[in-house]
Amino acid sequence: MKLKNDLLIRTALGEDVERPPVWLMRQAGRILPQYRALRGSLSGFKELVETPALAAEVTIQPVDELDVDAAIIFSDILVIPEAMGLTYEMVEKKGPLFPKTIESEKDIVALISGADAAAELKYVYDAIQITVKELDGRVPLIGFAGAPWTIFAYMIEGSGSKTFSKAKRFLYQHPELSHQLLQKITATTIAYLQQKVASGVSLVQIFDSWAGILTPTLFRTFALPYIKQIAAAITGVPVTVFAKGAWFALAELESIDCNVIGLDWGTSPDYARKHITKVFQGNLDPCQLYGTAKEVELAATKMVQDFGGKHIANLGHGVYPDTPLDNVRVFVDTIKSLSYAS
Ligand code: CP3
Repeated sequence: MKLKNDLLIRTALGEDVERPPVWLMRQAGRILPQYRALRGSLSGFKELVETPALAAEVTIQPVDELDVDAAIIFSDILVIPEAMGLTYEMVEKKGPLFPKTIESEKDIVALISGADAAAELKYVYDAIQITVKELDGRVPLIGFAGAPWTIFAYMIEGSGSKTFSKAKRFLYQHPELSHQLLQKITATTIAYLQQKVASGVSLVQIFDSWAGILTPTLFRTFALPYIKQIAAAITGVPVTVFAKGAWFALAELESIDCNVIGLDWGTSPDYARKHITKVFQGNLDPCQLYGTAKEVELAATKMVQDFGGKHIANLGHGVYPDTPLDNVRVFVDTIKSLSYAS
């Protein structure tokens, strides 16, 4: 499908562009009234994720409503553990819960992985095909997966956690088993993302949402090698790696065979540039959008100036559900009004 707006892709590939492209992590969802209306009419989150026509519909909502430069396929990183054999529930107002978690070698051996596991996710590939058709080249569609460490953390912990100390304990007490599990997740994620590319996504983003709770040594040992394997296995589309909180590992992130590094708000553009030559994505504090419209405009403009090019404008993490929609619009419109030429 020929893209009418390919600004995201040109930027990700390092080309000189007229302005930064803009989209928001978690743009599909609870900030939009039309999402909440559709979601409220269904049995739950999973019905939305697993019904391709509905997933396509909510994927396109933010493109229609906010005129962002990219769509991101509506899904969740937790479809991977489910495909491998650990089903999840999305508990209202609480978040994900795995009734069964990984506790032993037997549990790891029992998981399916690689292409066999990825084949379980036909509903995602179908949703991508429908979305690409319906977008008709308006903007590129982003595909995504969780990084192996973040998926591992949910598989061991069974839910969200402030510390993920159960998952970290597993790394310290069972390093060999940890590698075994991380490798199975990696093989599945590679097959899954390759299938997403074959289904029509134009860029792939890897979310390592819990990278920041690792020490530099744990990150180097249990996170980085698997992200590297995935990035190296994706061909044909640009790859973004977003390792939230991994400011301590910028030099390692530079060594990944990927195009774009996502930054959270804890890393300044100036500091990041000292370690990384790739394109950046980010990194306005999502809470900045609670300020006045004028403040949002100034902060968005300053961010673009501070990165000074080779930059995809975004927040430093997903947009929070109670963010005023008008300020989301101010953020997007401000970026779109800017020009590197002037
Ligand atoms: O970005 C997008 O708009 C596309 C959709 C998307 C969702 N989840 C939909 C979703 C993406 C890219 C994700 C990724 C995801 N899921 C991550 C990595 C990104 C990050 O935020 O760090 C993680 C850690 C998860 C796991 C997850 N899913 C949690 C912890 C929760 C509950 C908390 C929350 O944010 O609501 C979810 C649920 C979820 N995933 C919702 C949405 C729209 C809310 C479900 C609802 O409608 O109630």
